[in-house]
Amino acid sequence: MTQTRAEARLTSVEEQYPLAPSVLDADVYRDPARYRRELEDVLFEAWFPVFPSSDVAKPRDYVVWDQLDQSVVITRLDDGTVSSWHNVCQHRGARLLDGSGHCPTGRIKCPWHGFVYDLEGVVGSVPLRDSFDPGLLDGLRAPAVRVTEWGGWIWLTLSDDTPELLDYLGVIGEELAGYELDGYTTQYRHSVTLQANWKIVVDAFNETWHVPFTHQDTLGGVVLWRDAALKIASPHSWMTLPVRGLTDRVSSTDHRKTHICHYLAFPNTIFSCFPTHLQMWSAWPLSPDETLLCAYQMAGPAPAGMTDEKWARNNERDWKHFLDVLLEDSEVINGFTKVARSKGFTKNMFNTAESRLTAFHGEIAKRLR
Ligand code: FES
Ligand SMILES: [Fe+2]
Repeated sequence: MTQTRAEARLTSVEEQYPLAPSVLDADVYRDPARYRRELEDVLFEAWFPVFPSSDVAKPRDYVVWDQLDQSVVITRLDDGTVSSWHNVCQHRGARLLDGSGHCPTGRIKCPWHGFVYDLEGVVGSVPLRDSFDPGLLDGLRAPAVRVTEWGGWIWLTLSDDTPELLDYLGVIGEELAGYELDGYTTQYRHSVTLQANWKIVVDAFNETWHVPFTHQDTLGGVVLWRDAALKIASPHSWMTLPVRGLTDRVSSTDHRKTHICHYLAFPNTIFSCFPTHLQMWSAWPLSPDETLLCAYQMAGPAPAGMTDEKWARNNERDWKHFLDVLLEDSEVINGFTKVARSKGFTKNMFNTAESRLTAFHGEIAKRLR
């Protein structure tokens, strides 16, 4: 029997599935105290891509990020950079902004007693200023949140101690840089609330051997799931996944041109990259038993020889296909809350094909204080 090119690239089982089998206590998916510690010790310490840069394309555009029990304003300043700060009035805690929009005056007025903030969250005018303790108003601002732009995304972290973004991303940043994502545009987006712990959702997308059971009709004939090669790049992980009609047709030594390359930017974001476009999604915990999945499709310019119309049709087809696959995953994932506290659910056993799950949970455990 002739080997496929993908098979020929795999030199050993160890290279394909790098970690030994492991066991995980089921409590990590249902214990409310564990959930709270994960927010503080894992999620608050990470960098996240939160919105495409194009969501605040022009100076004085803003967008509000409401996740992880936090609310953060992101603004585009007149010099073209972005600023972000907690969306909380420093007088008595009112929420300052909602949704997204454009602020032509560059002044944001609290809806309760009219404190005015500039686009960097600094308090300017204060009604009844003389009636306040002047020491408390001196230099007053909504606390800043670290933010940066990279790869067509706005990234933020709630921690002052997390390393700079590209140091944090490491190999994943180097991999993503090869796609020149700055040239991509956002085409589609979709959000869905799933009835499962956020780590169940992350787990669900980091192994491929459920494909023949969950996705036989949608993916079974497309991806060569047996030939996925898993890589651990602590705290992140990734895999190369051969695709029929691409891996066997395109000749290149760059896996980004021949495979779907699927990256977990620890802890909760996945970039699933095709050579010319990608789907990206984040799993935002809402409670121990609920997760908001926010998905996007972004694409580069039409490949050589393809009209923009055909490229748009292809992208629409790919997005519909992605939504079909997501629906199949959702049907399984949505069953978890009903069994999360079952006396019959005591542990997960991960095989070597689930090495990325072993690595993911190991990274979380390492971070819990
Ligand atoms: S709460 Fe904002 S001005 Fe009072
Ligand atoms: Fe799936």
